[in-house]
Amino acid sequence: MATVRLDQKGRALVRAVPDSYANALASYFGAGPTNVALARSQHTAYVSALESNGVEVTILPADNAHPDCIFVEDQAVVIDGHVLLPVPGAESRRGEQPPIADFLAQKLAGHQICKMEPPAMMDGGDILRLGDIIFVGRSTRTNDAGIGELKDLLDHLGHELRIVDIPPHALHLTSIASTPCDQIILAPEGYLSPESFGEMPEGCEVVMMPKEEVYGCNTIGLPGRKVLVADGYPTVAKTLEERGFETILLDMSEIRAADGSPTCCSIFF
Ligand code: GLY
Repeated sequence: MATVRLDQKGRALVRAVPDSYANALASYFGAGPTNVALARSQHTAYVSALESNGVEVTILPADNAHPDCIFVEDQAVVIDGHVLLPVPGAESRRGEQPPIADFLAQKLAGHQICKMEPPAMMDGGDILRLGDIIFVGRSTRTNDAGIGELKDLLDHLGHELRIVDIPPHALHLTSIASTPCDQIILAPEGYLSPESFGEMPEGCEVVMMPKEEVYGCNTIGLPGRKVLVADGYPTVAKTLEERGFETILLDMSEIRAADGSPTCCSIFF
């Protein structure tokens, strides 16, 4: 997920695909998953890609009462000795959080747990980190009260927070942008502009992609200049390869069908 720096991406939490996955929310990229078996095999390949590129992965059991439970990124934000447990913006998804919170509390003993309370709400999928700058999407899932609570935490940690307004035709910030490394933000035309992110620190850049490759803008950068990229977005892959990245392509069709992207399926901790 997007709140750890590249050098902190050694471990990831993921969650298995539930039998109920065909009922997952879908309003943006997809019309809803139709093939749970295929989703499971794509999810297994995703986990293998993480593992074979040096990430230790823990898989939590699926929760059939929560069709969206594979999208763990939304449920917790791990940042510099703190675990922020947001109030997820979709009410139907709030019950996904307890086992994730329990797991992180156990694995990250010593981290401070910060629990958001309504009316604040925020999805972890609205958080993106570039070095020590944290971007938060103001979206249908993340409101000003949620952003205020995040800001209090980041002020305490000494990190800068920048707000990015998410257009109505997108779900989250990470649905449309990612940081394949600590110096690059990938973002799509027609959704965001370089100005959306404010002035870039020296050596950093916003690299714009064509609008039709918006889904491909969600990538997972790993140490060693490796990047997991959804298959089918050639400009994204070529742009990264030209910058010296090794791209690892993933078939994400049944994940995309539920508006999920590569980062949505992991919490790095
Ligand atoms: N299907 C993912 C979400 O809407 O949160």
